[in-house]
Amino acid sequence: MKSCTVFAVQAQGADIMTIEGVANADGTLSALQEGFRMMHGLQCGFCTPGMILRAQRLLKENPNPTEAEIRMGISGNFCRCTGYQNIVRAIQYAAAKINGVEFQEAAE
Ligand code: FES
Repeated sequence: MKSCTVFAVQAQGADIMTIEGVANADGTLSALQEGFRMMHGLQCGFCTPGMILRAQRLLKENPNPTEAEIRMGISGNFCRCTGYQNIVRAIQYAAAKINGVEFQEAAE
């Protein structure tokens, strides 16, 4: 859920995941956080928490998404800085890591 579209009272009793809860239990970066870092998936960082949380849900539902599925999956989140290419690469990086395979840049 986008926090700007939900009244706090509507979330009463719900489990809420924020960007602070995305890191691994030992405090290391999650695959997605690492992907955004390694693939330069952010510039100002304003959109990054939403992108990572949306991507986390996307990868939970589809651990091996195509580029088109990633782009559709994050289409409700706006980034004014990156042009999305590196965000997509960051999510592909995380998907590869989660699946235990080496990240391969797509041929252009
Ligand atoms: S990195 Fe600035 S809005 Fe996405």
